[in-house]
Amino acid sequence: MTKKPSLATLSINAGAPPPEQGKSFRRGPEFASTFHLSGDVDPTAFQYGRFDHPTWRDLELGLSQLEGGETSIFPSGMAAAAAILTSLVKPGDTILLPSDGYAPVRYYTEQYLVRFGVNLQTIATKDIEHFDFAGVDLALLETPSNPMLDTFDIREAAERAHTQNCLLAIDNTTLTFLGQQPLALGADISLCADTKSVNGHSDVVFGHVSTKNSALSDKIREWRKYSGNIPGPMETWLVHRSLSTLDMRLQRMCENAMRLAEYLSEHQKVVSVRYPGLVSDPSYKIAKKQQDLFGFIISFELSDKEAAENFLNACKLVYEATSFGGVHSMAERRARWGTDNIAEGVIRFSVGCERTEDILDDVEQALCDV
Ligand SMILES: Cc1ncc(COP(=O)(O)O)c(C=O)c1O
Repeated sequence: MTKKPSLATLSINAGAPPPEQGKSFRRGPEFASTFHLSGDVDPTAFQYGRFDHPTWRDLELGLSQLEGGETSIFPSGMAAAAAILTSLVKPGDTILLPSDGYAPVRYYTEQYLVRFGVNLQTIATKDIEHFDFAGVDLALLETPSNPMLDTFDIREAAERAHTQNCLLAIDNTTLTFLGQQPLALGADISLCADTKSVNGHSDVVFGHVSTKNSALSDKIREWRKYSGNIPGPMETWLVHRSLSTLDMRLQRMCENAMRLAEYLSEHQKVVSVRYPGLVSDPSYKIAKKQQDLFGFIISFELSDKEAAENFLNACKLVYEATSFGGVHSMAERRARWGTDNIAEGVIRFSVGCERTEDILDDVEQALCDV
C-alpha cells in the first residue's frame, strides 16, 4: 500500500479542486454577495454571502484537512478569538487566558465579556503544567506563547481540562498546523491568526478556528453569521494561494531561526535568548515532544531600551514591525507597547526567508552598534 503523503505535501494543494480535463488547477475568487434562490429555501444552495460562500468553502476544506477538524475562517485572528470567546460561554462562566499571551485577547475579554457576567482568570504559561482547571469553563491558551515562547504539554493539559469539563482551545499562531497539531494532541479547538505565517506576505489580515466537535463548530459558525464577522473573497483567495508555499517558507524560516538563535546565544552583548529549539531553552523538552517545528520567532534581550533601539535602527535587512511570520525578517522592541510584562531591552525577532548568511551578517553588524 502506498504511504499517505505528509501534511506538508498535502498543504500544496489542500482545498483545490481535483484536476479536470481542460480546467484550471485553481479557481479564482468569486465575487458574490447574493445567489439565485427561488422557491422554498434550499439548505444545500448558497443563499447569501454572509452565510456561506464558494471561495470560503475551498479554503475551509483545505484547512479542515490540515487541522484535522471542521474549520471556519474569519477576517482576522482577533475575530477568530472573539468567535471562540463569545459563542462558547454564558454569564457566570469562567474563561482562562494566559497572562503572558497575546494581550488584545485579554483586553477583548475584559472590555466586552466581563461586563456581561463572564469571569476572567489568567495564568502564566509556565504555570499551566501544574494547573488543575477547576472552575474554568473555557481556556484559550498559547504554546509556544507570544512573545516569550514558554510552552506546556497540550495532551496533559487537555486531559486535566476535560476532567473538569473545561474546553481547551489552543492559539497555534506561532507554529501553525504544520508546526503543531493541537486537535491531534487532544485540544478541543485550534485557532490561528493566518495574518502571520499562513498568509505570510504581510498583505492580508485573516484567521481561522478548527474543531473536531461539530456542536462547537455550529456555534462558532452561527456567531460568524449573526455578528457579520466574515472574510472577503479576495482575502480568502490570497490566503489559500499562500497555503501552497507555507511548508517551504516555514522550513527556511525555522532553519534560519535555529542558526540565528545559536549565534545570538553566544554573543557577548546578548543578555539572554529564548528559542524553543535551543537545547538549553526551558521550552525545549516540550517543544521536542509535541512540535514538528521549533518555530521562527526568537525573543532575545539586550542590556536596555537604548541598546535595543540602536540594534533595530542599525539593522538594514530586518524590517521594524509589530508582526511576525512574513517572508521578510521583522523585529520589534516589544516593551514599546506597554502591554506585556517584559524587560525594556527585549526584541521579538521573526526570522524570514532570506539567505541565512545575509541575516547573520545583518544582525552581526547591527550588534556592533549596541
Ligand atoms: C498569538 C496571536 N493570536 C492572535 C493574534 C491576532 O491576530 P490578528 O492580528 O490577525 O487579529 C495575534 C496577532 O498578533 C497573535 O500574535
